[in-house]
Amino acid sequence: MIEEELSKQFLRVTEMAAIDSARTMGQGNRHHSDQVAVEAMRKAMDTLPMRGEIVIGEGERDEAPMLFIGEHVGRGRSEDPEVDIAVDPLEGTNLCALGAPGAIAVLAASERGGLLKAPDCYMEKIIVGPAAKGAIHLDASVAENLNAIANRLERSVPDLVVIVLDRPRHEQLIEDIRRAGARIRLISDGDLSAGISVAVRGTNVHAVMGIGGAPEGVITAAALRCLNGSMQARLVPTKDGQEERMRAMGITDPKRIYSERDLAPGQEILFAASGVTDGNMLKGVRFFGHGMRVNSLIMSKRERRIRFVDTVQLDEDPDVVVEF
Ligand code: FBP
Repeated sequence: MIEEELSKQFLRVTEMAAIDSARTMGQGNRHHSDQVAVEAMRKAMDTLPMRGEIVIGEGERDEAPMLFIGEHVGRGRSEDPEVDIAVDPLEGTNLCALGAPGAIAVLAASERGGLLKAPDCYMEKIIVGPAAKGAIHLDASVAENLNAIANRLERSVPDLVVIVLDRPRHEQLIEDIRRAGARIRLISDGDLSAGISVAVRGTNVHAVMGIGGAPEGVITAAALRCLNGSMQARLVPTKDGQEERMRAMGITDPKRIYSERDLAPGQEILFAASGVTDGNMLKGVRFFGHGMRVNSLIMSKRERRIRFVDTVQLDEDPDVVVEF
């Protein structure tokens, strides 16, 4: 029963990472922004009543000082639940460094074995909301997928908005989407928060297509399990040693198409995200002199609970003022 016990604490973890990284907003140093988010998240995790293991994190043990894959986190008493954790302390490091919209601090957690141990390579993805569940296929043409999504949403293809990472590798994809007639929102970074917004009606985003990070893909899948959204994905190794790494992680078929359930098979899934800079669904951290305000999304699958949390943290100031 990890969800009840840990959801509030995980909320605090992403809040802390968001607050510290938001202090570096616009400073132009993405590595520094990331580092402070990692440190804040790691510190906040230490006291949590769990025997946590990082399954998706900042890299391998020899390349990341903390939140590396395999690191044990939490206070670790024998009575504490075993939890697998996927973290992205600052999703959109460039966005934060530039003060651009859409940076978040995010994590997902499940019972042991509930999140795929994916290598840090690329992943081809197509992400849709609940209405288009079962209607898309990674190997179908772009036009076929867009027609299927439009049908399910009872609208025409030109009414759809597709988010695509603005990368040279997506030249053909962008051309295909344009030819099919859908509208496109090109983003410079942040396909994880884009993937979440697809599964929430009213955000005016109907699909995410293209190649982004595999770790982000697993965390997106965890969010989709809570929101009843859907995705298909395939790992895309591009660097030497990545296929070997995949095999070492137990992935025998490198061409396998994964669903959100394959990527995040957990019975119990917790997801927490806090806004760093203003985004589609979450506002960025605001500092107002007497404290700060952080916007978060916390979801638990088993409890079927989605909470949008607006936390105001006050300073110890006798004349403190809270504004609506
Ligand atoms: P960071 O937060 O690590 O900078 O990643 C941002 C991001 O845009 C992800 O949202 C996306 O999945 C990935 O990078 C795409 O990778 P690349 O920049 O190599 O195309």
